[in-house]
Amino acid sequence: MNRPIKNNVYWVGKTDWDLRKFHGDEYSTHKGSTYNSYLIREDKVALIDTVWKPFAKEYVENLKSEIDLKKIDYIIVNHAEIDHSGALTELMSHIPDTPIYCTASGLKSIKGQHHKDWNLNVVKTGDKLSLGSKELIFIEAPMLHWPDSMMCYLTGDNILFSNDAFGQHYASEYMFNDLVDQNELFIECIKYYANILTPFSPLVTKKINEVLSFNLPVDLICPSHGVIWREDPVQIIKKYLGWADNYQENQITLVYDSMWENTRVMAEKIMEGIRQADNEVNVKMYNISRSDKNDVILEIFKSKGVLFGSSTINNGILSAMAGLMEEVRGLKFRNKKAASFGSYGWSGESVKMLNDLALKSGFELLNDGIKVLWTPDNEGEALCVEYGRNFAESIK
Ligand code: FEO
Repeated sequence: MNRPIKNNVYWVGKTDWDLRKFHGDEYSTHKGSTYNSYLIREDKVALIDTVWKPFAKEYVENLKSEIDLKKIDYIIVNHAEIDHSGALTELMSHIPDTPIYCTASGLKSIKGQHHKDWNLNVVKTGDKLSLGSKELIFIEAPMLHWPDSMMCYLTGDNILFSNDAFGQHYASEYMFNDLVDQNELFIECIKYYANILTPFSPLVTKKINEVLSFNLPVDLICPSHGVIWREDPVQIIKKYLGWADNYQENQITLVYDSMWENTRVMAEKIMEGIRQADNEVNVKMYNISRSDKNDVILEIFKSKGVLFGSSTINNGILSAMAGLMEEVRGLKFRNKKAASFGSYGWSGESVKMLNDLALKSGFELLNDGIKVLWTPDNEGEALCVEYGRNFAESIK
């Protein structure tokens, strides 16, 4: 269903209530998502982004109920990742000559994914497209989060179409930020930042400052996922600047996997020690094989210190921890302290392996970690408590 946004701007996207996994199995979408597409009906008509391919036919049929497709003058592809450009092939089968505007990287990406000879036009930061009395101004945003990413700004209505930036995987019948549950919205925003944008934080700061330097009034921020920022839209820009600046809270997170509960017992004793040393720090503990990995990554994002734990298996670490550590490596967390723990029966490589992975991932390793042979006895448990105490003391 098409929804009015402001004056002649309409939402013509798709709400995907069923979505529970995004990017393959890389991102959990507990609350679904939306693929936002916007239609601007000024003297000239511009369509901004489309939707994911499974909804292509539905999207185009819906668009036809809003407008004769031949009346669309311009198609803007702010970002060619397939959740936004997936319906292009279906759409362009009806209007094959309509010009598409994208970045130079977008051109390669569109060609590489759709293999069609469309009328592709490259734009750069500052280029403008007249829609009559209003115009679209393009702002390239390379690596936020793909090389082709860009935003565009509609003068007159003062709308920033920010694509993935400032978005949330959050399906809602309410279109605007002021109408939804604020706690839900905040969690989906920070989870999205932690899991997708963390590696690009230095670029986030630079790009936001560049956009702010244009001094363009912003009444609405229309992202490509989730709700539109209508009430105090600058609030999400401020949040991004904070999250991009080596964000952390007074939190320590333990994340582990355990074959026969011995590493779990270690985690609980380490936690006890942390609490003895610091009554105020927020300590959280997750068994990664029973937790949602993206929720855990959000907790790591919020932490000043992280303890990674695994039993030793086949001279290495448990596979759920290995999967987590691979994601953590790619996210390039900064300004976080770490240490490792784990139980073992004979060879005992897990702690060293976790140490190496944490170091490679950019964590500051505080020590060599703690290993316990077989099941921790009273002495082993006491050592874990002391280890937790020392860890907390060293990052107070
Ligand atoms: Fe929502 Fe990068 O696609």
